[in-house]
Amino acid sequence: MKTLFTVRDMQAACRSLRQTGSLGLVPTMGALHDGHLSLVRRAAAENDAVAVSIFVNPTQFAPGEDYDAYPRRLAEDGAKLEAEGVDLLFTPSVEEMYPSGATTFVEVAGLGDRLDGASRPGHFRGVATVVAKLFHIVHPDRAYFGQKDAAQVAVLRAMVRDLLFPLQLVVCPIVREPSGLAMSSRNLNLSAAERDRAGALSGALQTAARLVRDGETGAAALRVAMLSQLSSEDGVRLDYAEVVHPETLLPVADTLQGALLAVAAWVGQTRLIDNLLVEASSAERPQPASLPEPIEEMHV
Ligand code: PAJ
Repeated sequence: MKTLFTVRDMQAACRSLRQTGSLGLVPTMGALHDGHLSLVRRAAAENDAVAVSIFVNPTQFAPGEDYDAYPRRLAEDGAKLEAEGVDLLFTPSVEEMYPSGATTFVEVAGLGDRLDGASRPGHFRGVATVVAKLFHIVHPDRAYFGQKDAAQVAVLRAMVRDLLFPLQLVVCPIVREPSGLAMSSRNLNLSAAERDRAGALSGALQTAARLVRDGETGAAALRVAMLSQLSSEDGVRLDYAEVVHPETLLPVADTLQGALLAVAAWVGQTRLIDNLLVEASSAERPQPASLPEPIEEMHV
C-alpha cells in the first residue's frame, strides 16, 4: 500500500492505476471500524484497485462541534487498510485540500438542509465540497458510501447527478455491533454507560420495524413510537425522529411507497445517527413502471 500526502502525488498515483484497470474510492474520516472495512471489501471485490482517503474534513463541522474531539487513529487505520490489500491511502493536510484563499463550495440546495442538514447547518456543504474534491483527484470508476449516513447518500447522489460526475455511487448496508448499535467512529467517544444508552437509537428503529411487520404503515404512528422510546431513555437527548422519502428526505404520510426511518440523538456530548429503510409494501406495490429506484438496504 502506498500512502500519499499531497494532491499532486495522489493524482499521479491514481492516473497510473487507472491505466491498468478500474479504481474504487472509499472516502472516510478515519478511526476505521468494520463498517468502513465493509466498504473497502466491496470496493476490492468490484474493482481492480482500491483507494481510501482519511481526512477529517473541517468544513463539515460547525463551530462548537466535535472537530477537535473527533477520534484520530492514523497508525492503526493504516495497518487495517494494509491488511485489506488497499492500493492507495490518501491522508492530505487541511492546507492540501483547502488551498489558502479557497472560497468555492458545492451546495446541494434543498436536500442539504434536511435531516442532519437542518440540525447541522453547513454540514452537507462541507461534505459535498470535500467529496467533489476527492472525485476530482481520484477519478474513481466507483465510489463507496454507507447507508448509515442516509442523508449524506441522498445529497451525494444528487451531486453526482447534477455535476455529471462519471462514476457509480455504491451504497453499502449498515454494519452493527452485536447489540444492534450502528458502528461509528464516534462510538469511541462513548463511556461504557453511554454505549448502553446509545442502544436507544437502534432500539427505536427496531420498535418501528416491528410495527411495520405487524402492518402499521402510518408515518405518524411510527414517529410517535420512535420518539417515545428515544425520549424515555435517560441521558439521551433527541435531535430528530423522522419518516421521510429516501431520496428527497421530505416527510411522507405513510410507508406504502417505501420510506426512510431516520433518528439522531445526543448521548452525552456525542451525537449519533441511525436509520432503517422500509420497502414499498408488496400488497400496495405500484405497477413496475412507477416503482421507485430499488432500495439497497435493510429490508423490513
Ligand atoms: P465517515 O464517518 O468516516 O464514514 C465513511 C464512510 O463509511 C461513509 O460512507 C459512512 O456512511 C460509512 N460508514 C460509517 N459507519 C458505517 C456503518 N456502521 N456501516 C456501514 N457504513 C458505514 O461519512 C464520512 O466519513 C464523511 O462525511 C465523508 C464522506 C468521508 C466526507 O468527509
